[in-house]
Amino acid sequence: MNSNIDVIKCKDINEISRRAAFLVAETIHRNPRCILGLATGSSPVGMYQTLVKIYEGGTLDFSKVRSFNLDEYYPIQPEDPQSYRYFMNTNLFDHINIDPANTHVPLGNAEDPEKFCQAYDLMIEAAGGIDLQVLGIGNNGHIAFNEPDDHFPAGTHVVDLQESTIKANSRFFASEADVPRKAITMGIGSIMKARRIILLASGTAKAEAVKACVEGPITPACPASALQLHPDVTLFVDEAAASLLSK
Ligand code: F6R
Repeated sequence: MNSNIDVIKCKDINEISRRAAFLVAETIHRNPRCILGLATGSSPVGMYQTLVKIYEGGTLDFSKVRSFNLDEYYPIQPEDPQSYRYFMNTNLFDHINIDPANTHVPLGNAEDPEKFCQAYDLMIEAAGGIDLQVLGIGNNGHIAFNEPDDHFPAGTHVVDLQESTIKANSRFFASEADVPRKAITMGIGSIMKARRIILLASGTAKAEAVKACVEGPITPACPASALQLHPDVTLFVDEAAASLLSK
């Protein structure tokens, strides 16, 4: 393995969740005004549950923390139970003392989504940039909604979702036809600007993507492979997700 990426092998998703949550908590302790980059999906759910538990225990203060989420479907209303805004509220924000005004999720009902994307990048920049970015990874190596492509997209932008992603995400919707066909997503460039990145992956379905991310060529065919160029990336993976790594 010759990339910069630090791989931490965990027993299961519970250990992944606990270790990732401790790292987020430590980041907040060191800098109570830190800027977190957050992800949705199944991978970080346990991490959010652990953060809520730590908060309820009285040792974590989110009052000055600001957050920016990676992505959101388009079009979708923020109050729609399938929206990523709803996911974040119900899995984390509603249970901690973060100021709702300090939480940012791309607007699924933005009137002018392209203009919104530019404004989102400027907001992140004005906040001072992301201190810690949390990521999951798609089975096809996507991060955020940056799908395999012929280039690495730079800033926040509107994307057409690929069939494989629509299929994978249809488990959260009544039917595949209900999955929005577009999304607003931070670009690979936006993600790479974060000072520190952690990526959570569990299960055999992620094994190929994890291998391509850590050991494969750096290519937009596997968007996550760009992380090899970042100086501070940690992957928390279980045995199954790590099963194809050479060591
Ligand atoms: C979610 C996101 C996606 C997911 C990825 C993995 O905000 O950006 O890239 O991280 O699709 O999803 P799960 O964790 O559900 O396997």
